[in-house]
Amino acid sequence: MQEITQQGNELYLENTSLNGIANQYGTPSYVYSKAAITDSYHAYTKALGDYPGKICYAVKANSNLAILQILAALGAHFDIVSGGELERVLRAGGAANQIIFSGVGKSKAEMERALELGIACFNVESEAELVTLSAVAEKMNKQANISLRVNPDVDANTHPYISTGLKENKFGIAIDDAVRIYSWANTLPNINIVGVDCHIGSQLTDITPFLDALDRLLILIDQLQEAEITIQHIDLGGGIGVVYRDETPPAIDTYLAKVKEKIAPRGLELVLEPGRSIVGNAGLLLTEVMYLKPGEHKNFAVVDAAMNDNIRPALYQAWQDLKPVVVDSEEQTLTWDIVGPICETSDFLAKERELALKQGDRLALLSSGAYGFVMASNYNTRNRAPEILVDGDKSYLIRERESFADLIRGEHLLENI
Ligand SMILES: Cc1ncc(COP(=O)(O)O)c(C=O)c1O
Repeated sequence: MQEITQQGNELYLENTSLNGIANQYGTPSYVYSKAAITDSYHAYTKALGDYPGKICYAVKANSNLAILQILAALGAHFDIVSGGELERVLRAGGAANQIIFSGVGKSKAEMERALELGIACFNVESEAELVTLSAVAEKMNKQANISLRVNPDVDANTHPYISTGLKENKFGIAIDDAVRIYSWANTLPNINIVGVDCHIGSQLTDITPFLDALDRLLILIDQLQEAEITIQHIDLGGGIGVVYRDETPPAIDTYLAKVKEKIAPRGLELVLEPGRSIVGNAGLLLTEVMYLKPGEHKNFAVVDAAMNDNIRPALYQAWQDLKPVVVDSEEQTLTWDIVGPICETSDFLAKERELALKQGDRLALLSSGAYGFVMASNYNTRNRAPEILVDGDKSYLIRERESFADLIRGEHLLENI
């Protein structure tokens, strides 16, 4: 994470001491850098240059209103996967006509709301969804702009849980069925074909699968042209990886230069849906060591953040760097498993890390900006951590720590038992 530096013996995010943040807001807490978000977004706009295109931030990666507000102010468009995300974007100042709607299970109510607002495009993922969307649009006397999310059957070489572009995955329409379904869509009076879409997976560290998918989509676009179906935009989804440890994800300008070269001759507009690469390395999870349990076989450090705060290690065996917030070079290091208070063996944040630890030390789990807080739960009746935004030497509470009252809101005791 670029915005993290050591000043004296303390870690800073931009010009803000993380120990100071922990003192002020407590732990566990999520902390994000505004500069890092802005820079990663600009890496896309710079690489796009004056080529016609849209950078649609994938809201699922981090949907805090203030983060969406920053991106909306920068001019970002948005990729959503639910009606809830739609409302968040609007609340944060995003415009409906800058929203594209992805996801395999859009409900009728979500379609109605999106059509009423006039979103830019639905990324349709099945024939059955198209039947429903067409009926909803007809009933409302609206036109639904669509692209079909095509499954190009390429191996993204990423963790199987975040690989989405293979035949065996639930996402999208098999590329071999695409011409037939587009031709049928073209006959539907309330459906307006605008694009072709794919998203082959997340945390990709190699450019080849993206380009293979693109080549397959371009063949499809040519076939559609022969069938007199004109495509205005090509949407390549998100998926560019970030450095958690020693990965070497493709540089965004290299990736986009190759894409533009391939699509420019067809005059296609480019749509992208990046999430992780915008926010992943812009955030960290601050936690404090509660207890040390050195043992014969393993040394455990029990910290106050758990799998309910960050499920990535349990879900994807994810590795994230962990740094002491105050560096004490005098302390002796040991190999620790960093575990949370939840009653599950899978509740760990990191395993086998060489660290000098004592009770009360604070740690920063880096690269926690994407798929961190958004996947947090209340498991074990734990309140979700606050979110804090750092801008230079200032910090802002952008989501409060939940209270017990928040946790039981909507629950009812029985009157007669
Ligand atoms: C349809 C779609 N678009 C975009 C994204 C964002 O991907 P990433 O965060 O890897 O850029 C996802 C995430 O899985 C997705 O499912």
